[in-house]
Amino acid sequence: MGGQWGDEGKGKIVDKYVEMPNRVQMKTLIRSVLYHAPGTSRFVDTSKNFTQVEMMYRHHGGDNAGHTVQVEKNTYKLHCLPSGIVRRGMKCCVGPYVVCNLELMGEELALADSCGSEVFLDPRAPVILPIHRLIDRGREQAKGKDAIGTTQRGIGPAYEDLISRRSLTLGDLVSPDRIRTCLLNGHYYEERAVIARFLDQNPPSVDDTVDYCFTRGKLLVPHLADTRRMLYTYASHSNIPVLFEGAHGVMLDLLHGAPPYITSSLCSAGSVATSYGVMPQHVVTVVKAYTTRVGAGPFPTELTDALGDHLREKGHEFGTTTGRPRRCGWLDLVAVAYAMRMGGGTHIALTKLDVLTGLDEIKICTGYRMPSGEILPPFATLTREILETATPIYKSFRSWHRDISNCHSLNELPRTVWTLLDFIQEHLLHPITLIGVGPERNQVIWVGH
Ligand code: GDP
Ligand code: IMO
Ligand code: MG
Repeated sequence: MGGQWGDEGKGKIVDKYVEMPNRVQMKTLIRSVLYHAPGTSRFVDTSKNFTQVEMMYRHHGGDNAGHTVQVEKNTYKLHCLPSGIVRRGMKCCVGPYVVCNLELMGEELALADSCGSEVFLDPRAPVILPIHRLIDRGREQAKGKDAIGTTQRGIGPAYEDLISRRSLTLGDLVSPDRIRTCLLNGHYYEERAVIARFLDQNPPSVDDTVDYCFTRGKLLVPHLADTRRMLYTYASHSNIPVLFEGAHGVMLDLLHGAPPYITSSLCSAGSVATSYGVMPQHVVTVVKAYTTRVGAGPFPTELTDALGDHLREKGHEFGTTTGRPRRCGWLDLVAVAYAMRMGGGTHIALTKLDVLTGLDEIKICTGYRMPSGEILPPFATLTREILETATPIYKSFRSWHRDISNCHSLNELPRTVWTLLDFIQEHLLHPITLIGVGPERNQVIWVGH
């Protein structure tokens, strides 16, 4: 899961976890191993150095996500399907809580096919209709300067229809009649069209929408499968862990983020349990070595000066989905600790450490001073008011000037990096398992806790 406001590098880390060294699993999963069957190793096959994950799930969000995987010179930007689609032989499932952009899914299915992976789509997953995008856009326009800065992908309106129990689902795409019946049921589409027109948008007709859904759906229908059954069937005969790929970041979570500057899905590890009944035991929280945010909303450690521009340029911080420049700032451990607490994080993958190379000084926010002069007490819920009024308390660290982007072990890293890593782990009380030192798949260091 994402430990900040999104774009932490989840795509890359998920891709890397497909080949998890056994020594990492041995140490990190020891608790869960004991839990399951004392004395036996449920997850670890010690005869190999690596466990190759075979199955992966995307379990929430929609194409507001933009996950990047760079393999040598090829860069893949994925929005709907799990990042595993770029790996041959991988089984990639999309769960019932993912809202689906039919066009993009079709494109990503073609990519999966060309990469030799298999895709399974849950029939219960809700469809994002063109009218959802119009309503999203219309609302943002109507809000003017108070706009949330959504991706305008129709995410909020699509989830509203899931909650009000009337979504068109992937399973409905099998025939035009079924699509039409769903859209007309209880005046569903007409009601949505009234809202779209009220927001100065021009919604397509029911006929056009049926045609859009059926035509695009033809590519998707052959991939429909009971993804919940698949998980249990697989787990009942395999020792290999299954990966769940979170989207967004817990600071954008529907319940834990600061409304209205949030997304419309549950972004914590708990949402795996909501969809699949299993609470993941090894919850890798992806944390960027600094912070970024796209769209509006409070951001206590934001740097609006030349340093912020430097991080944006050096870290290529432009939205994967919308191309918008990302707001940049120092690493905020108050926010990360909160995200890990609410999200159920157990481990940390620290990305983009290379971007901090060469700075005069590195700052990390370790506390918030509130307008009253008091320091925010431990375990406080980070409300909008707190995030808007807090003054960050920073600790300064020395930087390093040697290029670290080719380092493959901790020993190769400058000692000043070690100091930083130690501090982060000790502050968050969770171990770092993986460090990103560049965008490419192999630019990582496994820590091996
Ligand atoms: P996600 O939404 O969390 O998957 O993240 P994005 O893909 O939207 O944005 C992360 C960006 O950082 C992508 O361009 C990645 O290729 C890049 N990236 C990921 N890890 C690293 C890293 O360790 N170093 C550098 N320099 N880039 C990274
Ligand atoms: P990944 O998975 C960064 C932000 C939007 C906006 C708010 C609501 O790539 O980390 P929405 O379209 O979801 O209704 O927009 O949430 N947002 C993201 N920001 N990365 C994302 O996904 C995001 N998904 C949503 O910018 O502020
Ligand atoms: Mg992204």
